[in-house]
Amino acid sequence: MIKLGVNIDHIATIRQARKEKIPSVTDAALVCEKAGADSITVHLREDRRHIQDFDIYQIRNSIKTKLNLEMSINEDIVKIALDVKPDFVCIVPEKRQELTTEGGLDVKNNKEVIENVVMRLKKAGIIVSLFIEPDMEQVMACKEVGGHTVELHTGKYAKLFRENGVDSIEFKAEMDKVLEASKEAVKSDLLLNAGHGLDYDNVGQICKVVGMNEFNIGFSIIAKSIFTGLEKAVRSMKELIK
Ligand code: PXP
Repeated sequence: MIKLGVNIDHIATIRQARKEKIPSVTDAALVCEKAGADSITVHLREDRRHIQDFDIYQIRNSIKTKLNLEMSINEDIVKIALDVKPDFVCIVPEKRQELTTEGGLDVKNNKEVIENVVMRLKKAGIIVSLFIEPDMEQVMACKEVGGHTVELHTGKYAKLFRENGVDSIEFKAEMDKVLEASKEAVKSDLLLNAGHGLDYDNVGQICKVVGMNEFNIGFSIIAKSIFTGLEKAVRSMKELIK
């Protein structure tokens, strides 16, 4: 069965709006676990717009499932990761002005610098994932730099699903890319994850991809939780993935 990692960054977004102690990000992680989340994902951004350093330590010490830390290759952040030792790290590109992670990592053209970070994290016993566009050559580059896992960026998939529909040429072309990249990942013995923009409507299609290990989903679950509560929002997503 495909696993579900729940990204709880936006619980912290609400807290940081007032810089108060509520809502507790760690409590949210525990609710997600209770509802069946297989891992808890947080993105420690360089500008600390939502998740703060102490959140990661608190979550690490509280949850029983896996902690997945999304991060750039910024040296200060790498040092924090080596100290916290999350179960998984997902390396993502990061631009200060973006609203969210806009594209995948260009592993192919930055092999040396990425390989260096991958090796340091692996040495600390961390399973390393690389967040890339669904592109065969990027998958091959992930293998070359020693990654364990690829996470395919489904932002374009989600946008085309919403705007053009599943029967559109554009959506089908993107789906073909996802399938091709997925096949390459499985063939290369890489674990296959996907995330970004996945929601209650579009997750069904991507569930059909052979070899999928885990989805990382944040925004749609947290948005739904405003109306249903977090536990129910996570359970509904788990049901759909099943
Ligand atoms: N995976 C990665 C690598 C991400 O950067 C994000 C966004 O932080 C997600 C998954 C989750 O995306 P969304 O919040 O759109 O579900």
